[in-house]
Amino acid sequence: MPRDLIIAPSILSADFARLGEEVATVDAAGADWIHLDPMDGHFVPNITFGPPVIKAIRGSSKKLFDCHLMIAPADPYIAAFSEAGADLITVHAEAGPHLDRSLQTIRALGKKAGVSLNPATPESAIEYVLDRLDLILIMTINPGFGGQAFIPSVVEKVRRVKALVGNRPIDIEIDGGITPETAPLVVAAGANVLVAGSAVFKGGSKEAYAKNIAAIRAAAEAVR
Ligand code: DX5
Ligand code: ZN
Repeated sequence: MPRDLIIAPSILSADFARLGEEVATVDAAGADWIHLDPMDGHFVPNITFGPPVIKAIRGSSKKLFDCHLMIAPADPYIAAFSEAGADLITVHAEAGPHLDRSLQTIRALGKKAGVSLNPATPESAIEYVLDRLDLILIMTINPGFGGQAFIPSVVEKVRRVKALVGNRPIDIEIDGGITPETAPLVVAAGANVLVAGSAVFKGGSKEAYAKNIAAIRAAAEAVR
């Protein structure tokens, strides 16, 4: 049985002046998960939002809050993101020397644990933590900003990660430059969770979001 196909809109491309409303709208438009992108201006060259903002929008959707931490160090803040309402917390393999400990910390809080790999990081980084993982997030852009171009050479890494995962109950998520054109490439390689920011939030209305999500979903389903 293939794992469920999940579309996770990244609210980085939403209208921040109306963030709660945008979360409710994209939920109603067909989002499976809500993808959140905290950034610290240190691990990545951009600053976004942290736990208080997540707490403020938690009431706007009952969907899974998929929290992609682009911060270093991550460990001192994991409990705060958990308390704010994150359901799944992903740390970057490059963000600290003790990945195993970070993943243990997330699971000890009762949350799902994920690890993310930058485009230049090999899949061997996760070989010894597979049993601690609920999700592997493979970046198809260099993290920091929405709206960047998909890096095609990463598709081969998705295939290798899928082989490494085997039959384990681990989701493979892709983040960066996902559109109806690029989604089939990564889904055919083994991914089942698709993050999309600019491709979902273009148009600025519930009707547009629903159409955008449906287009990504249809393109992905066609190769499953
Ligand atoms: C970037 C973030 C992404 C971003 C994706 O570092 O991790 O989630 O919002 O944006 P798009 O889909 O526009 O590439
Ligand atoms: Zn992200």
